[in-house]
Amino acid sequence: MECAVAVAEEALDLTQSPHPDLDLNLFDPFTKLVQIEVLGQNFKVPENNTLMRCFQYVAFEPISYGGFCWNGTCRQCEVKYDLGDGRERQCLTCCTKVTEGMKITETHPEIRFE
Ligand code: FES
Repeated sequence: MECAVAVAEEALDLTQSPHPDLDLNLFDPFTKLVQIEVLGQNFKVPENNTLMRCFQYVAFEPISYGGFCWNGTCRQCEVKYDLGDGRERQCLTCCTKVTEGMKITETHPEIRFE
């Protein structure tokens, strides 16, 4: 699977989807990518979007075809994260906007990146 982080940010055209089947119209408007860490892996993802949509940006197939409700009901998108202050928080990624520097430390087993 090709990943958006493999491309230098200067070379990114933000109007181009990182996957041919990913419709960028599903995203809230964004003008830049922000960096997050997920289980030790760094990703550049669209600002101003839910974490779930950001996960889909870097792992189109497992997220798109996973068993997610996308509306806060199934809880299969739950993660634990840190904003750099050492305080562990928990959220549903389909209901939580991404924050630059977010460090996801634990994910529900349904969330896969390969
Ligand atoms: S995807 Fe079901 S609660 Fe988030």
